[in-house]
This record gives sequence, structure tokens and C-alpha cells, in this order.
Amino acid sequence: MSADLLQNLNPGIADLHPYEPGKSIDEVMLAYGHTEVIKLASNENPLGASPKALAKLKSLPGSFHLYPDGNGTKLKNVIAKHEKLLSENIILGNGSNEILELAARAFLNPGSSAVASCHAFVVYKIVTQSSGATLIEVPTIDWGHNLEAFPANIRDDTKVIFIANPNNPTGTYNSHQEVHCLLKNIPSSILVVLDCAYFEYVKKSDYVDPLALLNEFDNLLVTKSFSKIQGLASARIGYGIGQPELIEVLNRIRQPFNVNSFAQELACEAINDKEHIKKSIDLNLAEGTFLFAELTQLGLECIPSVGNFISFKGNFNGKEMFTSLMEKGVVVRPIDLYGMPDFLRVTIGTHQENVRFLAELKGLL
Ligand SMILES: Cc1ncc(COP(=O)(O)O)c(C=O)c1O
Repeated sequence: MSADLLQNLNPGIADLHPYEPGKSIDEVMLAYGHTEVIKLASNENPLGASPKALAKLKSLPGSFHLYPDGNGTKLKNVIAKHEKLLSENIILGNGSNEILELAARAFLNPGSSAVASCHAFVVYKIVTQSSGATLIEVPTIDWGHNLEAFPANIRDDTKVIFIANPNNPTGTYNSHQEVHCLLKNIPSSILVVLDCAYFEYVKKSDYVDPLALLNEFDNLLVTKSFSKIQGLASARIGYGIGQPELIEVLNRIRQPFNVNSFAQELACEAINDKEHIKKSIDLNLAEGTFLFAELTQLGLECIPSVGNFISFKGNFNGKEMFTSLMEKGVVVRPIDLYGMPDFLRVTIGTHQENVRFLAELKGLL
């Protein structure tokens, strides 16, 4: 590409890297000639998609030729009931990532800034810098967001604060009290995006109650994902909840048919699949405890996680260990781009997957 063209690149994009997704099973099979690969790289649900959603898949109407419902009426009503809100409080996204991007596009521009934690979900940086804005990163305490320090890092030009709760890749969370305190101590002109992609996995009594916060603060946007506990990562669907005026603003810049009809139908089923959700939570708690204990036993330093993944550090380079594990048919995630080059992040899998991962890792230490 000509250097002249690159000179015209929007400022902020020059030092971004394309988002690096976890390696797919097919990719690894092809590259290494494996016949069996386990993927513990993208915090997907090891139990798969909601069976209720899968059952629906078989009976989807043959309406490929029709655009999806651009308003997502049916799904928004289902979500509204689930969240005890109105459908005017909800916006659907092509994954919750799209909602993060809409928030950035609506409020950030060159000359403005966003605040997030160090080691926070990388998409905050991508959407902030793509909007020409600057990301201010606040140092962590024990790898967790130090929300108490956020107000002091806000500048006059700060328009958005991103909070990952829990955060990926650290698995740390912030309490209701901490988030409430932050919202109380910042100007109401700043939009707070509370990213709750792993919401259902968190079983802590002091965890955030988004509804209570939404009732008190107008400048709050909560995002949730269908990619994690509901197991619909490939369908690409998530949502945001906030005051109707905020949702209306985001709808102005949303692509008309951003969520396909099949994803909408599957999500309607998955959100109410209580059995699958409970099974997934139970498995995650039991296997998370098992994995954490086994990794610790191997002399590795694990960050306590409330999500469906654990980041751990050993006497190795994360990227090199990631490649060695991949050669054995186990895909995890290096997190050097998060400023954590000595760490690996592993998704909590089924017992069988976790045992296999531990065995391969042990052989490489
Ligand atoms: C913290 C966090 N937020 C948001 C997302 C985006 O999820 P999706 O776009 O699949 O809904 C992820 C995905 O891994 C995540 O880890």
C-alpha cells in the first residue's frame, strides 16, 4: 500500500493491532495435522449452546430472503422481561462488542479521552482509538480494576469510562459498592459502560446489581453477551441496557439490520434456558476450583477468577508455551497484548478437557 495512503490513516489507528481471536480448531488441525484438538482459548461454553436454542434451530422458518426484524421487537421484549425493564431500555448488537463500539462512536472523537483499567478487555482500546480518542489506563490493584483511582484519572476531555466486570483476561470483579461509588464521584456527563459479558458466572454476594444502578444513574450503559453462558458465540449477539434517551442515541448510528434473524430467534430461547444456565454455572464453579488447585499445585501463579477462565503465570514465556501446547493439540490464549507476556489464559472446560490440558502442560513445564 502506498505510504501516501497510510499517511491519511485516522490518528489512533496507526498503533493498533488487529484483534487476535483464539485459534480455531480447524486452523490448528490443519497446521499441526492433529485429528483431535481442544479449544480453551475464547471463553466459550464447554457445554455448547443452549439445547433449547439448538432445538429452535431445527424449526427456523425458511425466511433467508427476508431482512431480519431491524428493531428486534420479539427479542427485545423477551430481554425486557428477563431484565425487568422496558424494550425501550434495550439495544441489540452483533455481539456485545458492537455495543461497545456504538458507545465509542457516539461519544468519543479526536480531542476526547476514555478511561479504563490497565489489563482491561482490549476492545476498549480498539474502539477508543478508532474514534480518534485517547485511552487513559489506570494501574490495577492485584490485577483488578482500581475504581477508587478512576476519578483522579479523568480529564476535562473524558467522555467515556469502560469497566469490565468481570474483566477479561484477569477474571477480577468489582463490587456493587465500588461501581456505585465511582458513579457518584464522576460528572454525570461521562458515560460509564459497564461490561457484564460474564455476568451469570459471578456468584459473589457483593457483585453489581445493574438494575439498581440503572434506576439511579442516567449515564450508565450495561452490556451483556449471549456468547458466553448461553453458548451462542458464533451467532454474534449481545445487548446493551440504559435509559431510553441513551438507547435512542445509539440506535441512530446502528446499522439497520445488525443482528440476523437466526441469532434473534436463538437468543429468545437461550435466555430462558434455566437448566442449561444452571448446568453451565455448576460446571464452571466445580471445574474452576479444580483447575485453580491443580495449576497452583504445579507451582503456577493463578489470578483468582470469577469468570469462566483463569489467567496463570509460570517460569515461561506465554507465547512460547501457547505454541508448545498447540503442538500438542491444546489451544489456550497468550495475553502478551494485554501487557501480560508471562501469562496464559485458559478457558475452564469440561473435566475431560481440563485433565487433558493439565497433562499436556505438565509435560511441558
Ligand atoms: C469482557 C468482554 N466483553 C465483551 C466481550 C465481547 O463478547 P461478544 O461480542 O461475543 O458478545 C468479550 C468477549 O470475549 C469479553 O471478554
